[in-house]
Parts: sequence; structure tokens; C-alpha cells
Amino acid sequence: MLTRIQIAFHSIFRANPDFVVRAPGRVNLIGEHTDYNDGFVLPMAIDRAIWIALRPRADRRVLVHSLDLNLSAAFDLDSLAPDKERWVEYMKGVANELQVTGYKLRGWEGALTGDVPRGGGLSSSAALEVATARAFASVSGFGWDGMRIARMGQQAENNWLGVKTGIMDQAVSAGAKKGHAFFLDCRSLEYQQIPLPKEIAVAVMDTSTRRGLVDSAYNARRNQCERAARFFGVKALRDVSVDEFEARYEKHRANPFDVLNEGLDEFSWKRAKHIVTENARVLKAVDAMRADDVVTLGKLFNESHASLRDDFEVTNDELNWIVEAAQARPECFGARMTGAGFGGCAVALVRKDFAEAFAQAVSAEYRAKSGKGAAIFVSEAGEGASVIEM
Ligand code: GLA
Repeated sequence: MLTRIQIAFHSIFRANPDFVVRAPGRVNLIGEHTDYNDGFVLPMAIDRAIWIALRPRADRRVLVHSLDLNLSAAFDLDSLAPDKERWVEYMKGVANELQVTGYKLRGWEGALTGDVPRGGGLSSSAALEVATARAFASVSGFGWDGMRIARMGQQAENNWLGVKTGIMDQAVSAGAKKGHAFFLDCRSLEYQQIPLPKEIAVAVMDTSTRRGLVDSAYNARRNQCERAARFFGVKALRDVSVDEFEARYEKHRANPFDVLNEGLDEFSWKRAKHIVTENARVLKAVDAMRADDVVTLGKLFNESHASLRDDFEVTNDELNWIVEAAQARPECFGARMTGAGFGGCAVALVRKDFAEAFAQAVSAEYRAKSGKGAAIFVSEAGEGASVIEM
């Protein structure tokens, strides 16, 4: 990738780049939809990333050529305005947040490429946001504070793109460490790097079904979670324990028509149940990972999937089929959908030596069930955003 982007930069600008920056996509191991509930997540960076080779400009313009789309774009830092070309909007959104926060930005020109599948739930957009921020940091000469940058990436997505996502994707893309999962408290933004158990391979299973995040479904889930938090009288569902949830739920089940006392709609109850139990699962998963207990870890994956399917209701048939096919394999410890859901990817923990056989068997089973091809690949836990000075 490094060579490819350097050569591309040279052929466009007839010079060598001053910097090459990269920011990875991610696969979430466990902790789904918990981030915007102030909860816990355990993603890892994948070994696929967005790369930008660039050099500063004397003015305040940004010129980018996307090798993958074969498209060029330009924008002016003094007159940022929303437009149609989505990939550029991620970059403008980040520039805008950085400026609003008070960073003094310089213009630059660069070439962009990447191997994170687009729209597949592996956070290609967060990778683009973080890479863009890294590019601005390099040419403008400001220090890199990963979590602060992650917050701005998230805000770009919330404010510029209008999707009310949480902070997980940008945080792991900015802060991950090779060989480790990234355990993040989405309230305090404190994080710990947790080594991945040696005997497992992480298999990413792309159902090849797609859904845009901008869909109202994601924002609708968020609204339901916020409604449930208000009902419980807390800032966010993070503050509700499993015991507390169960006690209230029992009361509600005993008298579902008692609207005055337990006035929460049935959907929001289910969403809350997922969030509360999922937060507990993340904490257990971290303990299991620390203890190299891959069997428990796998069980937690399976429980998470069931909860996302039955209570949070963000899976589609293809995600359920591929997860079932994976879970049925003897070399698989556990599997679940990953990311926002409704399409995209699932993730499985697999015995390392059998990863190849696993991928073949699951692909065949999935094709028989769905009539669709799956792209299954094993990913190492990658390194967060970085810069190479040329
Ligand atoms: C998307 C969002 C994240 C997170 C996940 C679901 O990836 O960008 O903030 O909410 O969905 O866990």
C-alpha cells in the first residue's frame, strides 16, 4: 500500500509526498450499540486501512484524488459547505470540526486509497475521518491526541453527515495497538489495550449485504435507548445494572397495561435489555480475554448475537445465516454480527490452525442458504492511525 500510494502521488503531482498517513478500519469484537449509551466496547483495528500521501500547500485549499474511485475533489477551508460527494463530506466534516475546535489548518494536496470494504460495517468512514485528521495534523503541525481527534471525527459524522453514531469507530481507529483489542469506556474515554488470546484467529465474514448508516433505523434505536434512560431516571443506560433492569422489567411484565407506572413502550424495553446485558457481557469478555478463556469469550459472542437479533433487532437474514453457519463449526468458539447491523459483516473467533477450513465451510454453507457469496478473511489486530514522514 505504501509503495502504491507513493507512486500514485508522484504520477499526479510530479513530486514525492512529504507525509503518508494511514488509519485502519475496525471490527467490533463485542459491545454493540453500547457506545452511544455511555457504555463499554471492545473493538480491534483490522489490518486494512485508508492511506493518504500528501504535501502541504501554501494556500487554504485541499485537493484530493481518490485512486479507488478515480475521482478528484477540492475544497476551501475558508468556505466549507456541504455538497453531494459523500467521501469528500467526511473530510470536510473533519476539517470543519477541527476549525470549530480552534485548530489552525493549512491546505494540502494528496492521493487517497484504501482496502477497507466500503459500507460493510468495518468503519471505512471512521478510517477516512481519522486519516483526514492525521493529514491535517501533519501539515498543520499540531499534536496528536487520539481520543480528542476521535471525538471530532464522531462530531463530524453527527453534525456534518447527520448520523448520530457513537465514538467507538473513530476511537479504535485513532488509538488501537497491534495485537490488542481496544477496551473503551465510552463515558470517560479511558481505554486499555487487551492482548488477544494466542490460539484464536479473528475471522471477518462479509455477508455482501449492505445498508447505509444514514438510514433512520440507527437513529431510531438511539432514540429508543434515550427514552429508556429517561424512564429509568439516569443519564444513559450505562447506569442501569442487569439486576435493576430485571427488577423493573418483572414489575412491568406483571402489569403491562399499567401505563402510568411503567410507561415505556415494548420496543424500548427490548432495546434497553440488549444494552444493559451487552455492557455486562463486555466486562465479562475482557475478563475472559485476560484469562485466555476463549470458550467463555465465544459464548459471550453467541449471546451477544442472540440479543442483537431478538432484542435490539438489527440483524437481517443473511447475518443470522452466516452466524449460524459459523457457530455450527467445531473450530469456532463463537460468532456474532458486528457493527451497526442490518447487513454488512459478522465476526467469529476461530481456532487459528483451522481458519482456512472454517472460511471455506462457512462460505459454502452461506451460499447454499442465501444464494450469495461471502467474503471471509482473517485479520490480525492492527495498529491505530500513524504517519510516516518521507
Ligand atoms: C456504528 C457506529 C458506532 C456504533 C456501532 C454499533 O459502527 O458508528 O458508533 O454505534 O455502529 O455498535
